[in-house]
Amino acid sequence: MTASTYVPPVLAWISGLAIAMPGAAAERPTLKDAFRDDFRVGTALATPQILGEEPESLALAAREFNAITPENCLKWALVHPEPDKYDFEAPDQYVAWGEANGMFIVGHTLVWHNQTPAWAFAGVDGKPLDRETALARLKSHIDTVVGRYRGRIKGWDVVNEAIDDEGKLRTGPVGSWPRRGEPWHAAIGDDYIEQAFRMAHAADPDAELYYNDFNEWYPAKIEAISKLITDLKVKGVHIDGLGLQGHWGVDYPTLEEIDHMLTEYGKLGVKLKITELDVSVFPTLDQPTGADITRRERGRAARNPYRDGLPDDKQQELAQRYADIFKLFVKHRDKIDRVTFWGIHDGQSWRNGWPVGRRVDYPLLFDRQRQPKPAFDAVIGVAR
Ligand code: G3I
Repeated sequence: MTASTYVPPVLAWISGLAIAMPGAAAERPTLKDAFRDDFRVGTALATPQILGEEPESLALAAREFNAITPENCLKWALVHPEPDKYDFEAPDQYVAWGEANGMFIVGHTLVWHNQTPAWAFAGVDGKPLDRETALARLKSHIDTVVGRYRGRIKGWDVVNEAIDDEGKLRTGPVGSWPRRGEPWHAAIGDDYIEQAFRMAHAADPDAELYYNDFNEWYPAKIEAISKLITDLKVKGVHIDGLGLQGHWGVDYPTLEEIDHMLTEYGKLGVKLKITELDVSVFPTLDQPTGADITRRERGRAARNPYRDGLPDDKQQELAQRYADIFKLFVKHRDKIDRVTFWGIHDGQSWRNGWPVGRRVDYPLLFDRQRQPKPAFDAVIGVAR
């Protein structure tokens, strides 16, 4: 970006309230242009947006971003709800829109314990799911979904969230407590990740393939994810990238933790992607980190302090936090090739419902009216 040409919105301070008076959107720098020499900047599209129910959001996405990920519509439960039934309506529109708008198109996600229908994990004749049946089911799903978009979806989150916070491979049935299970691992064994990557590569040899996870700065996860990727590479398995989701908050992880993990993962010889970035305005004391949806906090819906708006000091805190985070992304730009936000605007974000249900959060760069927030200006201000 030519920073000198950008005049940020005028902030009029009236009675302690900052009122943003944005200039015409056309005069505003865009995220994709600001970081064009550093990394792609992407967003996740919700299914109603893909289906055309929010044309203003799609227009904003086309203007600001150069990569897209489907928030839900390519997950197993949505695209393959029954053994012999696929639903490609939303994915077809997603890919067509991405092509029409010059986007780098990502597929999310092929193998995950969550948002996968019960039938996929059911064994034959009431028995537990066996290895051969599980492998055949995975292959059929991957062949069909990846094959349909061969050459068009450029990168796939092949396996999602396979490692728990202690650095162990998840296993066991879905819903086991205190840790969520991983029925694919339980049925197939330790090589299920390798098998999934081999299947995806066979279905589209030109597609980039990624492993994707959350709480990626935990020391135990740095160790386990690094080992996983190193082992895959040693075995000759095709893997191009590591997806770091980035469901973070105003006070976690620390900047040192982010810097450290980018340095460590940067040694693996795969490209790093920040795949699901959002920054909750609620501090750690209020919520677990990460994105484990079994850890929903109950009975705390009353703790919704910003239901009528975000105070200026919190708005500025979020802006500074985003600036600090993007400074680290730019610092590690030789290893990071995409930064994707998990949604276009605050109103769409899953963080309004996790870990406290029905709470108003403000985790993205555009507000509920799709206007740029101070955090947007702060991020643009980081561009070199
Ligand atoms: O499809 C049904 C719809 O028929 C029904 O009317 C509606 C009523 O609530 O629910 C719809 O399903 C919801 C689905 O999103 C689609 O909107 C589910 O309840 C809801 O749980 C689901 O949440 C998604 C979540 O993954 C599920 O795990 C979020 O939108 C999505 O943002 C979130 O994304 C995940 C990434 O894929 C992986 N990393 C963590 C991230 C956040 O959890």
